[in-house]
Amino acid sequence: MKDRGGKAGRRIKCALRLRLNGPSCRSCVQCKIVCAECALRPRATARLTHNIQLNHRPNFSASYSALDTLALKKINEMKRLDRRFCVAPLMDWTDRHCRAFHRRLTARALLYTEMVTIDAVIHGDRERLLGFSDLEHPLALQLGGSDPAKMAEAAGIGAAFGYDEINLNVGCPSDRVQSGRFGACLMREPELVAALWGAAQAAAPSTPVTIKCRTGVDEQEPRDALFALVEACRREGCARFIVHARKAWLSGLSPKENREVPPLDYEIVRALKRAYPSLTIVLNGGLRDVAHARAETMSLDGAMLGRAAYHNPTILLDVDREVFGATPPAASREAAVEAHLPYIEANLTRGVPLHAMTRHMLGLFNGVPGGRGWRRVLSERAIRSGAGTEVVREALDSVKSRALLDA
Ligand SMILES: Cc1cc2nc3c(=O)[nH]c(=O)nc-3n(C[C@H](O)[C@H](O)[C@H](O)COP(=O)(O)O)c2cc1C
Repeated sequence: MKDRGGKAGRRIKCALRLRLNGPSCRSCVQCKIVCAECALRPRATARLTHNIQLNHRPNFSASYSALDTLALKKINEMKRLDRRFCVAPLMDWTDRHCRAFHRRLTARALLYTEMVTIDAVIHGDRERLLGFSDLEHPLALQLGGSDPAKMAEAAGIGAAFGYDEINLNVGCPSDRVQSGRFGACLMREPELVAALWGAAQAAAPSTPVTIKCRTGVDEQEPRDALFALVEACRREGCARFIVHARKAWLSGLSPKENREVPPLDYEIVRALKRAYPSLTIVLNGGLRDVAHARAETMSLDGAMLGRAAYHNPTILLDVDREVFGATPPAASREAAVEAHLPYIEANLTRGVPLHAMTRHMLGLFNGVPGGRGWRRVLSERAIRSGAGTEVVREALDSVKSRALLDA
């Protein structure tokens, strides 16, 4: 293997071995060093663990360093995702059935998976953790982790699964995540986040890698913490950030309180965009509906809604027309439910229980006549064994008959 003139090189795991569909794993994207072991093996066996010595960034364990300008240009040109409206990653909520349902309401919003840890991606049941249906595109996979080599491996796997974006979680404040040194506590380690981003982007060169962060943690001054993180990652080549516009308190507040107690600061996100106009900056936190999101993101590149979209999915029915000037996939909530029935039927056949799908639909008729009946029928009957689409039809009938009564 050639020495490219760096100082003492480090032996690290070659994450590029995962690029089985590309020009194989034979060289490092940045320094073009050829991995002797890969180069000697036929492509099919290139997944075997091996090492490659990288000298171009000796100070960083397992960093892949900044991508060259040409590589970055390519990344920016590839997969131009429209981020004007995104549905946030929500653990235990935005699973594949939730996302499939959201697609009946909006074809254009960018959807996110729940966070998946890089260890789970590498060692877990990938089909269960990462599988999704084609109708969910455009779809981003959110990863959580703090080891650049593993991050590279997980990002490569995510890209190979066909995700349109890989997103790094730098915002979750839970104890479990903190003990793994990732999530919001990474706000204290901008250089590590930059290394994680570089590793992921190098391993998934055709898929944009983005960062979702807070404005700071604990006693950090948001103006310093947020800007330091963005500056470090921008230097590495990252051009897209989603900012949950509040700090996280790592001790003393639960994850739920951390989504409510620290005050929102949209202005700092706007200041970030003014300081870095060429970066894509998406605002998250406390946005109530499409009109609110549009009003607050006039000078930004997009809005990300979490709880409002989940609890009141009807919001999504406005997105395609109001944000993208396009026709929504369904003319009404009722039509969206009708359109979703074949998906439910197909998944029942595969053994998915009805309530695993309908639990994400409970809020669809919130605030309209018949909404309570809809929720009641689904909550009570979808959990029974053998429950099928007749339950959804019955819930829908109860909404329709209530609407007729009120007419
Ligand atoms: C139940 C729940 C689970 C969440 N899981 C994640 C997650 O996996 N990854 C993440 O980055 N943020 C997660 N969040 C935070 C949201 O993505 C979002 O940043 C936060 O809820 C603020 O946006 P909102 O006010 O629009 O809900 C979660 C929030 C909730 C309520």
